[in-house]
Amino acid sequence: MTSLTINEIAGLSESGRRDIASSIHPYTNLRLHETQGPLVITKGDGVFVTDEDGKSYLEAMSGLWCVSLGFSQPRLAEAAYQQMLKLPFYHTFAHKANDVGIELAEKLLAMAPAPMSKVFFTNSGSEANDSAVKLVWYYNNALDRPKKKKIISRLKGYHGVTVASASLTGLANNHRDFDLPITNIMHTDCPHWYRYGQPGETEDAFATRMADSLEQLILKEGPDTVAALIAEPIQGAGGVILPPATYFEKIQAVLAKYDVMLIADEVICAFGRTGNMWGTETYGMQPDIITCAKALSSGYLPIGAVMVSPKIYAALSSQSAKIGVFSHGFTYSGHPVCSAVALETLKLYEELDVVSRVRELAPKMQDGLRNFSDHPLVGEVRGIGLIGAIELVANKSTRAPFPASAGAGAFLSKQAHHHGVIIRPLGDIIAFCPPLIATESEIDMMLERFSLALEDTLQESKKWAEY
Ligand SMILES: Cc1ncc(COP(=O)(O)O)c(C=O)c1O
Repeated sequence: MTSLTINEIAGLSESGRRDIASSIHPYTNLRLHETQGPLVITKGDGVFVTDEDGKSYLEAMSGLWCVSLGFSQPRLAEAAYQQMLKLPFYHTFAHKANDVGIELAEKLLAMAPAPMSKVFFTNSGSEANDSAVKLVWYYNNALDRPKKKKIISRLKGYHGVTVASASLTGLANNHRDFDLPITNIMHTDCPHWYRYGQPGETEDAFATRMADSLEQLILKEGPDTVAALIAEPIQGAGGVILPPATYFEKIQAVLAKYDVMLIADEVICAFGRTGNMWGTETYGMQPDIITCAKALSSGYLPIGAVMVSPKIYAALSSQSAKIGVFSHGFTYSGHPVCSAVALETLKLYEELDVVSRVRELAPKMQDGLRNFSDHPLVGEVRGIGLIGAIELVANKSTRAPFPASAGAGAFLSKQAHHHGVIIRPLGDIIAFCPPLIATESEIDMMLERFSLALEDTLQESKKWAEY
């Protein structure tokens, strides 16, 4: 039980009090939550969700970058229900399979943006990336390269929260006091030109410097010890950071030179978000391994996947033959109900021609966001397809951020709730990732409601000393 008195939590709803008394919330200041309580969402309809008091919000983040088909797609509910009736569970261990899991694996392989040989299913993006790390280690043991085990990730990359994937994540709070990262994981530069470009440095020159820095890290560690680089096409939770022009081309040349594999973490970008089916296609990546989750089931049920190239599968296969078993897998790997919902999701993406839809809607959202460029609080506006961000700054010309104590992003987010839109503050970077089924007028509504919150923040910012 919480130590707060009834008076301290007066004003909270009944369910809010029960939540405080019972739950540990992810990515939440737990102490603050004891007094602030939750926003309790009870219903969804299209791009909108409704809280327990009946207030409606436009969900401009698709929940957590996942609900691409909106919050009320009946065909996904029906697919789950029918599969529950037919076969609610069957596993994939030890030569067992279920028919829908097979169909989903085939479908993903047919859609893959690079030649992939096999699919391994997980319950989440974190598990997919953890599995990718283990597969890379197993692969190099199969090839009798026991030293080639280090995985390079990037600062501000986000790859999840399990022990290996949190280690890959390049954000300090994911390591701090969790005794992470584990060994054999290191981080190279964050390719954010606006923040880390030097004065006068072109985007192209910045990309060259990023690739040189990666090469130096590989040389310092020893190329025979570096196995893979993991990269999101767009760094999502680290701040919606788009790679600078020529970045992946240059990075991949370095990887090829030292026989270092590329893992594309497509957990946010896959399934149309960037205006192609895969972010990998948008940025000319040629990965050896691809991980995905989230929009794979439009967030309706937990499922993730790891796809591996033919050369990786061949090595895994021969190593398991040698050992007698490939001892990795989750009870719910290839869960039939999650697989059925994912298959229906992929069918809907095709029927809706989701890629064309995103390309049609993208100018509306991207031009709309860029209209805020001249606002005194806006440092950079960035995005592609139906993902974008606005970075708040205290000083436009020096790009100086607000002091963390001002809580600019958190304030804006609170005001956005007030005006009926849910966005996500990543520090002082405001992320937008609306459902792909949004209409033009819903995108307009998202921008209008955001603009009211931005104006409130401008007024409030006058009180912040450093501004
Ligand atoms: C790029 C990326 N990878 C991995 C993950 C982790 O996925 P999950 O939260 O499903 O474990 C996320 C979650 O936001 C993500 O954005």
